[in-house]
Amino acid sequence: MDNKVIDESRQGEVIEMTPNNQAGKKLYLESYGCQMNFSDSEVVASILAKEGFSTTRNLEEADVILLNTCSIRENAETRVRNRLTDFKKKKEAYPELVVGILGCMAERLKKSLLEEEKLVDLVAGPDAYRDLPNLLQEVGTGQKAVNVLLSRDETYADISPVRLDQGGINAFVTITRGCDNMCSFCVVPFTRGRERSRDPETIVEECKDLFSKGYREVTLLGQNVDSYRWNITSKGELKDSSKPTTNFAQLMKMVALVSPLLRVRFSTSHPKDMTDDVLEIMAAHENICPYIHLPVQSGNSEVLNRMNRGYSREWYIDRIQSIKRIIPECAISTDIITGFCGETEEEHQDTLSIMDLVAYDFAYMFKYSERPKTLAERRFSDDVPEEVKSRRLNEIIEKQLSHSLKSHQQQLGSLQKVLVEGPSKRSDDFYCGRNGRNSMVVFPKGSAEKGQYVIVRIEDCTSATLRGKIEQYV
Ligand code: 5AD
Ligand code: SF4
Repeated sequence: MDNKVIDESRQGEVIEMTPNNQAGKKLYLESYGCQMNFSDSEVVASILAKEGFSTTRNLEEADVILLNTCSIRENAETRVRNRLTDFKKKKEAYPELVVGILGCMAERLKKSLLEEEKLVDLVAGPDAYRDLPNLLQEVGTGQKAVNVLLSRDETYADISPVRLDQGGINAFVTITRGCDNMCSFCVVPFTRGRERSRDPETIVEECKDLFSKGYREVTLLGQNVDSYRWNITSKGELKDSSKPTTNFAQLMKMVALVSPLLRVRFSTSHPKDMTDDVLEIMAAHENICPYIHLPVQSGNSEVLNRMNRGYSREWYIDRIQSIKRIIPECAISTDIITGFCGETEEEHQDTLSIMDLVAYDFAYMFKYSERPKTLAERRFSDDVPEEVKSRRLNEIIEKQLSHSLKSHQQQLGSLQKVLVEGPSKRSDDFYCGRNGRNSMVVFPKGSAEKGQYVIVRIEDCTSATLRGKIEQYV
């Protein structure tokens, strides 16, 4: 995957678009989990907009409530269940209200949510969004509507997602769906199905369209972007001999050429598949951001083997060395799971030591949460006591905070090219935006405008943010 989890403050974010049909029904759409879910919600909004639905941020005026759900850890599911319980009360007061769940919890919990707990009327899995108009009609006739079929080829390639942050600067563009990796802890292959890549022409077209609408940054999304392949089978054979093949490095180049003013990011890279080709393309294009999210999960080869990650500690370190050699200024972030089945104190120490070795700029850190159906649930025992998981997680977080702070301190005094994203959260007198390395930078507005690039001199920092002043307008 491992798609980066969306910033905590955006979890449960409500999305809204300008009504395109005043007479139509109102859709309230809430998203949880990773960037892929937020991107999928835009596909859903697009499909339902064609049916006359407009989205609303006001729950009170909604005719249909859809929650785009996440199953990755147990607490993600708990949050959604609590939310559904709130909606149940609303439904009692307003029986025509339709409540549905989309995304990763659909397959796993369809029976209990629909039939046993009667919390929802509609359940649609990640490959069933084209069927939503029919499902809503079925609900209208008093039936419970379900479609959780997973597809081998659905990529929604032809659907132009409705951008839910109109006037936005950065957009997600999905390039692959599903995952074939079967990491032993991960539920995604079960909830999102087999991996498939999207036609590169449709990706480039979408990026061009976004650029023409004022977007200045695209993030290419896939559970494992490095396994993107178009027109090649997994055995390396051509699917259609009259057409060219495209791999991830080539796709990135195609997107980078859309415009030098369009920044390109991507997520998520997989250590077993990330090639030097990709790094060289990054180094060759100024508008491909020098930032890689490369989930390590653990620093110990035995644990990585139990996790079925397909690489060892040594292999991972070799990939990091390649990044540092080919793109010396590249920022690196990671995901870490602590307290995986059978993890010993020594194995935990290996995770701490690889953190020191890489000196990650940022990390998402989690306690292992056993998920139904996964290889780990079937093969191993979730035997690291909760208090040990918590203590190890705290050690990991503490180390990461010191590394994040150091990474920012090293940027003090430097000039950073920042894409202005909008007013900072704390004050309207300040803008915020990220540099290529994905650090958030806050600075007085000056005469800059949203969507413009500015050069900022960094004067101060915390482990989370850089602060400075505009030195130059680009
Ligand atoms: N328990 C804890 N963390 C998990 N992740 C995936 N599955 C689990 C699980 N069962 C983490 C991984 C992945 C990130 C998106 O979520 O670190 O990279
Ligand atoms: Fe990522 Fe592995 Fe899960 Fe695939 S199976 S989504 S690679 S963590």
